[in-house]
Amino acid sequence: MTALAILVAAGRGERMGAARPKAFLELGGEPILLKAARSFEAAPSVAGIVAVVPAEEVDLARRLLAPLRKLRAVAAGGARRQDSVLEGLKQAPAGFEGVVLVHDAARPFAEIALIEEVARAAAEHGAALPVLPAVDTVKRIRDGRVVETLDRGELGAAQTPQGFRLALLVRGYEEAFRDRVTVTDEAMAVERLGVAVMAIEGSPRNRKLTTPEDLAWAEGVLAAERAGARA
Ligand code: CTP
Ligand code: MG
Repeated sequence: MTALAILVAAGRGERMGAARPKAFLELGGEPILLKAARSFEAAPSVAGIVAVVPAEEVDLARRLLAPLRKLRAVAAGGARRQDSVLEGLKQAPAGFEGVVLVHDAARPFAEIALIEEVARAAAEHGAALPVLPAVDTVKRIRDGRVVETLDRGELGAAQTPQGFRLALLVRGYEEAFRDRVTVTDEAMAVERLGVAVMAIEGSPRNRKLTTPEDLAWAEGVLAAERAGARA
């Protein structure tokens, strides 16, 4: 089975508050984008990698990702995440009928086993994503007051990579754009079609680096691993 990975890195990283988009910040001495891409380079089911970055970073990203054997294209992203994903989808080879794996470049620790499981489930069922079960009790709040306590057993946080048969994701996107709906992840575009999306177990390590605290956590993870490797 062959999959095309689309790494989206075209956001502004406002919550990170750094001078540059967060995928270009360094983690353990290399850019987060390169680190995230290496997992896909190493995943057996992945045949190609497309990176989507801010327009002004395209040249830099091409240089950074040049060592990757599977790199197919670096494209400029758009205003919303779905606009960036659409630019990535345009880079799919003509006649491609495999699975696309859309991944946040801001998640540099996606395990190869997780990537493989999403790819396999997407090929079999059409759509799949990793979900991390909720650990806290979740409340619905309106005007500063609790209006409802949700059933934690039914809740989970969506992660990436999210995998889809290409034709299914394209149909979901066509309908979302036609209906002028903003989708916050790719699965939402497919859910709108009434198609089942398989939830597989996510991983705590596969955390999205959103704030400076997340970056400090990630440096800690790498430092602990390096110390473990030396011991
Ligand atoms: N993303 C993108 N294009 C956009 C918006 C987001 O490619 N127009 C990507 C980001 O680069 C990131 C992923 O989608 O890898 C998840 O988005 P998020 O964590 O929200 O990143 P940013 O939008 O960059 O951060 P912020 O919301 O804090 O500005
Ligand atoms: Mg964002």
